[in-house]
Amino acid sequence: MKKLFIKTFGCQMNVYDSDKMSDVLAPSGYENTNDVNEADLILLNTCHIREKASEKLFSELGRMKEVGIERKENGKETLIGVAGCVAQAQGEEIMKRAPVVDLVFGPQAYHRLPQMLKTAKHSRVIDTDFPEEDKFNFLPKAKKSTTIKRGLTSFLTVQEGCNKFCSFCVVPYTRGVEQSRPVAQIIDEAKNLVNGGVKEITLLGQNVNAYHGESGKSDVSLASLLYKLAEIDGLERLRYTTSHPNDMGEDLILAHKELPALMPYLHLPVQSGSDKILKSMNRQHTNKEYLNLIEKIKTARPDIAISGDFIVGFPGESDEDFEDTLDVIRAVAYSSAYSFKYSPRPGTPGAKMENQVPEKVRVERLAELQKLINEQQTLFNENTIGKIVPVLFDKKGRSEGQLGGRSPYLQPVHVNAPSDFIGLIKKVKIIGGDKNSLRGNLA
Ligand code: 5AD
Ligand code: SF4
Repeated sequence: MKKLFIKTFGCQMNVYDSDKMSDVLAPSGYENTNDVNEADLILLNTCHIREKASEKLFSELGRMKEVGIERKENGKETLIGVAGCVAQAQGEEIMKRAPVVDLVFGPQAYHRLPQMLKTAKHSRVIDTDFPEEDKFNFLPKAKKSTTIKRGLTSFLTVQEGCNKFCSFCVVPYTRGVEQSRPVAQIIDEAKNLVNGGVKEITLLGQNVNAYHGESGKSDVSLASLLYKLAEIDGLERLRYTTSHPNDMGEDLILAHKELPALMPYLHLPVQSGSDKILKSMNRQHTNKEYLNLIEKIKTARPDIAISGDFIVGFPGESDEDFEDTLDVIRAVAYSSAYSFKYSPRPGTPGAKMENQVPEKVRVERLAELQKLINEQQTLFNENTIGKIVPVLFDKKGRSEGQLGGRSPYLQPVHVNAPSDFIGLIKKVKIIGGDKNSLRGNLA
């Protein structure tokens, strides 16, 4: 057996892709290792969404070079590959800047890995074209033993790419145009996961609620797909991420009311609360439209946990614009949120805009926004205290006799419970909690 070490940066889709790279390489005799020093093949699966991410790649490559040198001294060969969105955007530059790299390939090309490896043994490989064939048609099924090892919750990519072209975002350039996988293919993969013990699936897409996969002659929305998946015996919980407000269809909102397997949690980024900034971000909706939508969703499912993404310091953002963002946060009352300083990305319209906001202001605004979000997250968790919630236990807890699981609202919950409860959903009375997690007793 040859050993494969994959380091994953960035989003959940990269986590999913890394697993798929392992699946693709399994028939060539590769097995995963957590110890980079024993790896015959090292893959870095990269993220290009913000500046720091690509800088991280080059420092990581420095470390991997050392590993390669040491292994060589012991008579062992090592291949080093760069995958993911930095590879897609800066493939040539990586090849130039890092001679240690043997292969570079984008997110749409990893089904060709076995072939690339053969070539990489004698010459360097770069594969960043958007291929005509669909990689999903070439990915082998994960083995049952592999799925079991990966745990009780799983990601499943149903849609990739984005046509929205928000002016700050590199995704439409690195992942390409929106593409939805056919329904039958997704159901097949979901069944395979459930067969390997998976109880909860999170459907992934850069714009997942724009999903429109074909089934026979008709197009199927994300809501219809969720209903179909909910029929799979043994699949207890469904989630999806990440969504754009303009693709939040009526049928999807209704599914949150009527489909028990669909968890009451929604990641619906707004990025900014200022109409002026939303316009120059090309978000294609107003603050009011977003708030009305949230209202509608909360009417359908009053206990739903809303999460979001925010960017502070987008070009032209004034103190008033930033205040508008804080106002949206106060109005929505998020259960959690991710927030970022604006980072100009090469090739995006935002990077060329005038009125870039000074770093000092970005730092201050980010701290203020995160303080508010943290308060809301703590409050959301505290509001769960005293309630009885169903918890899916998925791992051993920190201390002896304790298990860890998730509430429907995605809160981590720690409970004293027998270890054979792993994989089961049990009612738990929440007795305490803080910003990050909850404690409870079996009810
Ligand atoms: N700068 C800062 N944050 C960004 N995001 C995307 N592009 C940028 C950028 N250039 C954030 C957005 C998005 C999340 C995945 O990353 O908030 O929703
Ligand atoms: Fe990027 Fe906007 Fe598409 Fe999200 S909707 S992936 S932020 S371009």
